[in-house]
Amino acid sequence: MMKKICNVSKLNKTVKTGEVSQQLLKNIDLKIEDGEFVVIVGPSGAGKSTLLNILGGLDSSTSGDVESAGFKLSKSREKALNDYRRKIGFVFQDYSLIENLTVKENIEVMSVVTKKKCDADKALSLVGMEKQADKFPGQLSGGEKQRVAIARALAKEPAILFCDEPTGALDEKNGKNVLRILQDLNRRGTTVIVVTHLLGMQKMADHVIRVIDGEIKEDIRNTKTIEAEDVLWN
Ligand SMILES: Nc1ncnc2c1ncn2[C@@H]1O[C@H](COP(=O)(O)OP(=O)(O)OP(=O)(O)O)[C@@H](O)[C@H]1O
Ligand SMILES: [Mg+2]
Repeated sequence: MMKKICNVSKLNKTVKTGEVSQQLLKNIDLKIEDGEFVVIVGPSGAGKSTLLNILGGLDSSTSGDVESAGFKLSKSREKALNDYRRKIGFVFQDYSLIENLTVKENIEVMSVVTKKKCDADKALSLVGMEKQADKFPGQLSGGEKQRVAIARALAKEPAILFCDEPTGALDEKNGKNVLRILQDLNRRGTTVIVVTHLLGMQKMADHVIRVIDGEIKEDIRNTKTIEAEDVLWN
């Protein structure tokens, strides 16, 4: 039997804006196995990023239980949440690089967060960016910035890599380079959880979760998966 790395039960998330309250996530039950490649799809506004942020310890739930990588996130205080955030990697659509640091320095700052030495050169070579280590983010293309953002997350040797729309701003060639990096990383054992609008990615995934209007409408596992290069781009 495979080991579970995430276990979510009866998760609800409600936000209140003035007098209006909106239920962003409704009664979510979800299990993710260690080593899975998970793709979360669904329409804009469905709650995908909200779910990913809660799983990644960046946002909190209103009720329910969320366990991930051995942490009970829903019951944790800030200190435990910080420990959890050090263990996982998060890649944002807008890259979130620090503009006045070089590529290599952007990765080295991770050692401040994780309190252990990060091998920036190794992380950069994993994404094929080792020759551009001394450039600044402003001197890179979108695809290259995304690869640096992934390298930064990888430098933590994360238990889980969370990615919100990692190819959202990329063309097919750059996007598929990123998918290749994610697929290789997953094949070396890292659990990868990706939110995407790229429907073709579903065929790459071991596990597909469809979120519509704050609810999980489909939760399936694929027996066969395709290579990153064969993902239909639309
Ligand atoms: N902090 C917040 N306060 C109020 N409403 C929020 C907050 N965060 C998200 N929402 C609302 O929750 C809903 C779900 O947002 P979310 O960002 O999770 O959607 P999404 O599925 O990631 O969409 P997209 O594909 O466009 O990124 C949206 O209606 C959004 O406006
Ligand atoms: Mg989103």
